[in-house]
Amino acid sequence: MIVGVPKEIKNNESRVGMTPAGVYELVKNGHTVYVQSEAGAGSGFFNQDYQQAGATILDTIGQVYAMSEMIVKVKEPIAEEYGLVRKGQIIFTYFHFASSEPLTKAMIDSSSVCIAYETVEDEEGTLPLLTPMSEVAGRMAIQQGAKYLEKPAKGRGVLLGGVPGVTPGKVLVIGAGVVGIQAAKMAAGLGAHVTIMDVNMKRLRYVNDVMPPHVVTEFSNEFNIRKHIKTHDLIVGGVLLKGKKAPNLITRDMLKEMRPGTVIVDVAVDQGGCVETTKATTHENPTYIIDDVVHYCVANMPGAVPYTSTVALTNVTLPYVLKLANNGWEAACRMDKSLEKGLNIVDGDVVYKEIIEAFSWKEPVLF
Ligand SMILES: NC(=O)c1ccc[n+]([C@@H]2O[C@H](COP(=O)([O-])OP(=O)(O)OC[C@H]3O[C@@H](n4cnc5c(N)ncnc54)[C@H](O)[C@@H]3O)[C@@H](O)[C@H]2O)c1
Repeated sequence: MIVGVPKEIKNNESRVGMTPAGVYELVKNGHTVYVQSEAGAGSGFFNQDYQQAGATILDTIGQVYAMSEMIVKVKEPIAEEYGLVRKGQIIFTYFHFASSEPLTKAMIDSSSVCIAYETVEDEEGTLPLLTPMSEVAGRMAIQQGAKYLEKPAKGRGVLLGGVPGVTPGKVLVIGAGVVGIQAAKMAAGLGAHVTIMDVNMKRLRYVNDVMPPHVVTEFSNEFNIRKHIKTHDLIVGGVLLKGKKAPNLITRDMLKEMRPGTVIVDVAVDQGGCVETTKATTHENPTYIIDDVVHYCVANMPGAVPYTSTVALTNVTLPYVLKLANNGWEAACRMDKSLEKGLNIVDGDVVYKEIIEAFSWKEPVLF
């Protein structure tokens, strides 16, 4: 198969869909790989790295789309790319169709085969191509939170780890999923006192088993949240209700009960956030303050660490890329049910029912 890796042109996106290691594997399997010039530069992978792995470098994004049977990228195509996508071409990337009707219509019109990273789902119901980004965001939440707790950043002026003779900072993590556990682990590593909350007792039992004693669990309910926000320095929101808006677990009135300079990192901002006062921010302007509480609500946290994010993402996408290239999409999806769940639009038909529901379209066309 001919596989193309374009440079991401979405604003502030420095990740790339394939590393030189991925190119090497594909070429070893007899495939041809075209990489757009400088596609990996933002993640620290340069043209000569790709060439040494066996790729051919093409100058323009138009050439990559025109010459490839499968496009492997990171973000959904943006409007400038819609016209480049060809009939029958496989596009393997994050799409998040339900959040964009114009994108969905453009991909229907293109008659391409759209396989979305975010809906690839394994037998346990987990989303293996989303997990690494949650791992990155969970770990980053503490790094960012620690920075914004510093006084010049308008934080409380607390060092999370404390020092001998001074008690460490306190971190409250709401949600003990992928984000929450990674955040708790990082905070514990810095020496902070950590409270982690969830409504799922299985998750809390797991955390209790694997974390050190300065990470304590608590059942998540309004009473307990109100109790803890008064004393914790950094609050991390890592809640998810699959396919739904995150619940507002911290309401506007609760900000007044926090100490000035408390920092909230609402990682769940991409699902609307679990704090009533959350509104999405960017890496250029990541924080804002309401009632003396610092809010960090960057919707694409992994974008700030493109090297780590690219490698983490491509580690998990590559086995699927190889399956698609070796077998073609139809056979690959027949043999791998988790990959089949990634099929969203096929030859102009929407085959993922949540997309049809999201736009309240009639006459669902199912695969
Ligand atoms: N901002 C970013 O850059 C970024 C990056 C990656 C992920 N995310 C987002 O972070 C969020 C969490 O992702 P995840 O992978 O950890 O999800 P996950 O499904 O692994 O974990 C979510 C956890 O929330 C718990 N939960 C549900 N309701 C709760 C409640 N009322 N109180 C406490 N816990 C509750 C669930 O039981 C689950 O354990 C998602 O919205 C995801 O999209 C954001």
